[in-house]
Amino acid sequence: MTTTEPAASLVSLHVNGATWQLTIDSRTTLLDALRETIGLTGSKKGCDHGQCGACTVLVDGRRANSCLLFAVAMEDAEITTIEGLAGPDGTLHPLQRAFVDRDALQCGYCTPGHVCSAAGMLGEAAAGWPSAVSPSLVPDGDGGEGDGHSAAVALDAAEVRERMSGNLCRCGAYVNIVAAILDAAPGGQAGGGGGAGGRAEGAGGRGGRA
Ligand code: FES
Ligand code: FES
Repeated sequence: MTTTEPAASLVSLHVNGATWQLTIDSRTTLLDALRETIGLTGSKKGCDHGQCGACTVLVDGRRANSCLLFAVAMEDAEITTIEGLAGPDGTLHPLQRAFVDRDALQCGYCTPGHVCSAAGMLGEAAAGWPSAVSPSLVPDGDGGEGDGHSAAVALDAAEVRERMSGNLCRCGAYVNIVAAILDAAPGGQAGGGGGAGGRAEGAGGRGGRA
């Protein structure tokens, strides 16, 4: 009788400014590597199928469902989890502050994913990426058609709801979640500018769900 051991891989992951050398099953998802191997349990496993957004992290500044990524494919990426959004002194990211101030959660299970996704989303809007509810799908450059420079998208509740539609909240805390994100958006009550800020460098200028 023969047994077949799962193939193991040595992978170097860059997470929240630290580098981790891991020997893991080659099939390990980024989410499982973060939670089970590294011990960063802020990213949550909801569906494990890319449908709920609870596992959202930032990969090179772009929001991504970590349950759909293989850890071994993330060697050259800078990964930011909810644990890495606050400043080194513990100062909350504007989005984290806004979620607290707005009481934008009930059980809190979806909250890390919502905050990370919102951080990436604010970067997408700042870069001029349109959504399905934007008045125009053509980037509104300030130097004429094809200038390659997109004006930032002004966010309202409809834009936030559409852009955050990949993140589900089974508690139905959406009303306050939208309010918190608008607070953290440019011009919002929380001082805006949001983006990934903190240690999630790059999220302010690059968009798209990876
Ligand atoms: S756990 Fe990844 S999208 Fe649901
Ligand atoms: S606060 Fe419970 S799932 Fe969103």
